[in-house]
Amino acid sequence: MLIRSDRDAFQPPRGNPVTPRAFYQGRRALLQAWAAGAAGAALAPWAAREALAQTARPGKRAALPGARSALPGAVTMERLTAYDDVSSYNNFYEFGTDKGDPVRQAQRLRTDPWSVRIEGLVHKPGRLTLEELLRLAPMEERIYRLRCVEGWSMVIPWVGYSLGRLIERVQPMGSAKYIEFVTLADREVMPGVRGSVLDWPYTEGLRLDEAQHPLTLLAFGLYGELLPPQNGAPLRLVVPWKYGFKSAKSIVALRFVEHEPRTAWNKAAANEYGFYSNVNPEVDHPRWSQATERRIGEDGLFARKRKTLLFNGYEAQVGQLYAGMDLRKHY
Ligand code: MTE
Repeated sequence: MLIRSDRDAFQPPRGNPVTPRAFYQGRRALLQAWAAGAAGAALAPWAAREALAQTARPGKRAALPGARSALPGAVTMERLTAYDDVSSYNNFYEFGTDKGDPVRQAQRLRTDPWSVRIEGLVHKPGRLTLEELLRLAPMEERIYRLRCVEGWSMVIPWVGYSLGRLIERVQPMGSAKYIEFVTLADREVMPGVRGSVLDWPYTEGLRLDEAQHPLTLLAFGLYGELLPPQNGAPLRLVVPWKYGFKSAKSIVALRFVEHEPRTAWNKAAANEYGFYSNVNPEVDHPRWSQATERRIGEDGLFARKRKTLLFNGYEAQVGQLYAGMDLRKHY
């Protein structure tokens, strides 16, 4: 992102290279059977999930199973990025600018109690607790590519539901055209917030129709478990056709507004990080190309770069959102 050292750029992650996919798929079948048994209940009792976590891998956090999503585009069969890479090679500037900082520093993040404020142009403003949010809609597993503007990508099995389900619930007014997402800025536990790398709190924004698109995910978990702190616990966005920085972590408020909100990265460097930030191999970042990417876990002597796809490969699903727009201008 803005602050880059040679160490940050294109550095292979530490940790185990591979989580055996077959193993994970076996486990997924178990989780799905269990989720189906929950007969449509959005959430099973914590005790049952804790028990399941004992038998599941990676087994680092409480289980959060989701039924495999039937939404077009919501599941790729590409090889998953290993859990250890997903959870140790992170961007979460509140915990430091180095890729390894969040896993080291974020473990002090307290996510209980947690609530999200709903503000601005909605008929039902207020505060939703994490428990209410977890129960708001059935959990789904979505396997999405996440591509960072820095040129690396991962394939991650997320757990959550479409942000649209929450938006429906709070009833936006006709004048609401955008949502601003505000994330936690707690100086006590987030060393990065004591510095001025970004204008805290980290904020992001989406046009309302982008936010309502069914692929826009409000994620509470990954790999069938609750999100680790470094990945944005207890809830974050995942917008798979946009660069990773649009996927705000540890959200504390949604503000429904009429005008395009500024975002943390846009404030830091407007010429480098536009509001839309759609993955687009044709539109280079001013300092580096976006034509190819390095898949995390495919490092080593014979690693090849992959071609980056327009809208990160989700063009069939989201292309119509941008019909008629000049994507070079609205980068
Ligand atoms: N959210 C917050 N609050 N703070 C951040 O620094 N970094 C963003 C995004 N969300 C960031 C954030 C960037 S630059 C990326 S690439 C993704 O989170 C990384 O998500 P991951 O660490 O789960 O891969």
